[in-house]
Amino acid sequence: MLVLAEDIGSRPAGSPAERQAAQYISHQLATYGYETQVEEFSVEYYVEEAGLEVVSPISLSLSPGALRLSAAGEVTAELAAAGLGRPEDFPPEGLKDRIALIERGDLSFADKVANANAADAAAVVIYNNAEGPFQGDLQAESAIPAVSLSQAEGGQLQTLLEEGPLTVRLFVQSTQETSTSQNIIGRPPEDDCQLIVGAHYDSVAAGPGANDNASGSATLLEIARVLDLSDGEQGVCFVAFGSEETGLLGSRHFVATLISQDEPSPQAMINLDMVGVGDEWHIMGSTSLAEKTAQVATALGLDPLLTEPHFSSDHLSFTDAGIPAILIHRFEDPRYHTESDRAEFVEPQLLEEAAKLTLLALAELAGS
Ligand code: BES
Ligand code: ZN
Repeated sequence: MLVLAEDIGSRPAGSPAERQAAQYISHQLATYGYETQVEEFSVEYYVEEAGLEVVSPISLSLSPGALRLSAAGEVTAELAAAGLGRPEDFPPEGLKDRIALIERGDLSFADKVANANAADAAAVVIYNNAEGPFQGDLQAESAIPAVSLSQAEGGQLQTLLEEGPLTVRLFVQSTQETSTSQNIIGRPPEDDCQLIVGAHYDSVAAGPGANDNASGSATLLEIARVLDLSDGEQGVCFVAFGSEETGLLGSRHFVATLISQDEPSPQAMINLDMVGVGDEWHIMGSTSLAEKTAQVATALGLDPLLTEPHFSSDHLSFTDAGIPAILIHRFEDPRYHTESDRAEFVEPQLLEEAAKLTLLALAELAGS
């Protein structure tokens, strides 16, 4: 877990860090005696660049970051303070094509930008509520350009604004690039994949993805390590998926390849995603598989809840293709998709519980 979340850190789809993580996972699976295969596929992603300067009454150049998935564009306009970017923080008459200066905190970056857009702002600057700069993610493309700024530079703009009107120039440039991402498959030597344990190992760009999903990847590796390949525990394959965070791309690719190559359909897939933070165990997905796994969990004293699917993760690529699949996860993580999703908040005991539950469920399924 520490190798992924601390040594490597943020592992966005198609990035060199994601590839480095893939190499680590593949090496570990090979060490445990599995035949490993790196299945590559191409991904498209955007690289955003940002600029911000005060042009009047003084000239001052600042160091913004682009929020991921910000709209591209260039705007020169007056700056207007808009608190935390809640609807009530905007003047009733709206911002009328001015640029909103908003402090980080309270609501998501996407909500702040959507509220500014609803108030007719032309662009948004979000400054940090803690020391230093930050990276943020808007989850889906915004309607107007949005940049991030350090607390110090945000404070500087606030002070200047209190002295009188300010005109600033802001731009966000976005270039689409194509890169390669990969799944890592570990098979027991000369065996089919009757059961699959899966976990995505990529993360959002905003943070090191410790709970989402170094936790599931590390648990997958631990299960692979303790499964005794020589003891008839056959037919269990391990798949670490790339590019989940950009639309389940790795698992979609894996399932499509499985089908196109006419390989025997796996009996079940167990997906581990976000298993290290939160109060309760949840199991969601194919009903009969979820119920069986819940019985195993209850026998382990884990009191699982069978939840309706609210989240997207790689098990959906399997259920969409008619392969029974479940997601084992915990809820809820206040640091989800933020720069604070760090290893120190992941509880090792929970990874152990997830590994025990999965191992017992596999044994149960292999016997049925
Ligand atoms: N790990 C999350 C899904 C998740 C959230 C699992 C909470 C368990 C508890 C996953 O990486 C994610 O962020 N999924 C997105 C969609 C994805 C296609 C970007 C989601 O569910 O919104
Ligand atoms: Zn995830």
